[in-house]
Amino acid sequence: MQIIHSVTEMQRYSDARRRQQQRVAVVPTMGYLHEGHLSLVRLAKEHADTVIVTIFVNPTQFGPTEDYTTYPRDMERDVKLVTSAGADCVYAPTPEEMYPEGYQTAVRVDKLTQHLCGITRPTHFEGVTTVVTKLFNATKPHLAVFGEKDFQQLQVIRRMVRDLDVDIEIIGAPIVREPDGLAMSSRNKYLSAQERTAALVLARSLFEIRNMCAQGESDALKLSRHVWQTISAEPLAKIDYIKICDLETLEDITHIRRDAVAALAVFFGKTRLIDNSILKTA
Ligand code: PAJ
Repeated sequence: MQIIHSVTEMQRYSDARRRQQQRVAVVPTMGYLHEGHLSLVRLAKEHADTVIVTIFVNPTQFGPTEDYTTYPRDMERDVKLVTSAGADCVYAPTPEEMYPEGYQTAVRVDKLTQHLCGITRPTHFEGVTTVVTKLFNATKPHLAVFGEKDFQQLQVIRRMVRDLDVDIEIIGAPIVREPDGLAMSSRNKYLSAQERTAALVLARSLFEIRNMCAQGESDALKLSRHVWQTISAEPLAKIDYIKICDLETLEDITHIRRDAVAALAVFFGKTRLIDNSILKTA
């Protein structure tokens, strides 16, 4: 396992692998890894000879009142985990390496970032697309794996890659859940025992409407009302948004004519959790 901290060393590593005709994959993360992240590493390994995992808590994608400084970090444990999942290299730059003195450039995707999380986190996606571009330029991969857990992020990155002619294949990976349904997240660590139990309402309500939809219910308003009522009945839950939207444009829909996505963000105490489910028509 090679651990690299500088951009130039990272680029040299990747250049060397490419010269050896190896297919290079990258899995960008902010660390504090769990089984969800590791499933991405394993999927990357199925598609590539060399898998680079990036670990960088990116300051520019956190809002001023968000949890950048308290975001959980454990590099030693992360390196062990990705090694056992089959990664070949960890790229862990410092904030100074990523954003040196004088830094002033950003990558912005327009419409897609204005829905869902973009409404309450208006600067978030610009931080994500900028850092992902920089991570791509440092790791020079043939392909990159992102989780469907952050569905909007995945669609935004697909759009960015298409729009900017970035020669990298983007692979989406399914959401990994705890046995009781809670979507795995580094932020689950913040939840108290009561909040953790209360948070099960998210997956439960999404599974319910997925089944309703599979059985022929196509009224998106009825489905989102069902989720809204189920989650509102949980006293510890404070809803940020619940939306049913078009898979591609992420615009709200009232009727499900083709596959759609139900996406939500809900606070439990100070912790904001997101989850989603693809709704397939009957
Ligand atoms: P982070 O939240 O660490 O997530 C890294 C990757 O793991 C993302 O692609 C995310 O969708 C995926 N992931 C997280 N939980 C998952 C789960 N339960 N099942 C499947 N995949 C899961 O997303 C970020 O970091 C950052 O925004 C980043 C892209 C690294 C840019 O800073």
